[in-house]
Amino acid sequence: MKRYEDLSPSLRCIMTPGPVEVDPRVLRAMSFPVLGQFDPEFTGIMNETMEMLRELFATGNQWAYPVDGTSRSGIEAVMVSLIAPGDRVLIPIFGRFGHLLHEIAERCGAEVQVIEKTWGSVFDADEVIAAMDSFKPQVVAIVHGETSTGRVQPLAEIGRACRERDALLIVDAVATIGGVPVETDAWMLDAVIGGTQKCLSVPSGMAPVTYNARAEAKLLARKQVERGLRTGSEREGGLPPVRSNYLDLSMLQDYWSPLRLNHHTEMTSMLYALREGLRLTLEEGLAPRFARHKLHEQALLAGLAAMGLELYGDPASKLTVVTCVLIPEGVDGEAVRSMLLERFGIEIASSFGPLKGLIWRIGTMGFSCRENNVLRLLGALEAVLLRHGHILPAGQGVQAALDVYEAQGG
Ligand SMILES: Cc1ncc(COP(=O)(O)O)c(C=O)c1O
Repeated sequence: MKRYEDLSPSLRCIMTPGPVEVDPRVLRAMSFPVLGQFDPEFTGIMNETMEMLRELFATGNQWAYPVDGTSRSGIEAVMVSLIAPGDRVLIPIFGRFGHLLHEIAERCGAEVQVIEKTWGSVFDADEVIAAMDSFKPQVVAIVHGETSTGRVQPLAEIGRACRERDALLIVDAVATIGGVPVETDAWMLDAVIGGTQKCLSVPSGMAPVTYNARAEAKLLARKQVERGLRTGSEREGGLPPVRSNYLDLSMLQDYWSPLRLNHHTEMTSMLYALREGLRLTLEEGLAPRFARHKLHEQALLAGLAAMGLELYGDPASKLTVVTCVLIPEGVDGEAVRSMLLERFGIEIASSFGPLKGLIWRIGTMGFSCRENNVLRLLGALEAVLLRHGHILPAGQGVQAALDVYEAQGG
């Protein structure tokens, strides 16, 4: 009989745009005993998680809870629940994940219009508003932090314009939640999806979402109670139901409400993990956490510049937590990544579509976003580049980053 070894994954320094290193407190929380899903102890944990999510999303929304599945499940749940077949949906695209929103909207049976921006930049609010005025969408779906290009899309003006035109605004904040400000209420975002495996430093496997009463009204119009749970006294919406059972937010919210109407079996250990990740985030404080992400980005940027490396994309729209570096001429980007991983235990990311082979993407997210990781990466990248015959001012990268830390009193 074949024998399998004990699991012993290597300890990595993960500097990608996710998944990133998980805080040891989160790993510990995942090893606690499983509780039954209607045990009052467990429903108490569910309620606390909702409370903390409201704070994270900066919202007074009643609904803020995780969908079980990777971040894409949260995006798909929001879209399939809020987009009825035939709805007009506008999707401004400035990278890979905008294309994902397009694809999902089409699968929802929407009439979709996309506007595209060259990768490496983001939209002026006026461009989105002009497209809204001509297409008159019922829904606009947009990415906040594009990990494929390392850009961040300002949302406040777009949010206001959607509200004035009575369109629902759906936002993919998978990469930004917990790392840079996401102001759900102040920016008038109707539905927002976050990610666990990035700035929250929780493993992949849940997608926190929040949505407001405007979004809920649309959901309730499509509400249907699962056949085997009906008692005859339910109020249903009257419109054709959401086309997914697993991802139907009108059913999920009944499960997360005091009704506790049964749906799926909640992912106990993942919820422990999310709760601990949220507790860590709120203990640190949102503003100090955003400042920490900014500091380590600045140290990284100073180090890369001192090494003579160039960044990709419009600096005005750079996303704090993802830094895209142009691979120098003549350097094999994949060979550099492999050597970083194999010899130094450090992972950075490659890229997608038109950027494949042109840039590396470095994440400074969550628990991975710390001084020793940034210094270690800069030192190792310098060594690996020299090993690959790329001439650079040796020693300068780490020194420049140390200058940033010392100037901050670190
Ligand atoms: C901006 C953005 N949206 C959506 C996703 C999809 O998330 P997941 O792979 O967890 O389903 C990602 C993943 O990297 C992302 O960066």
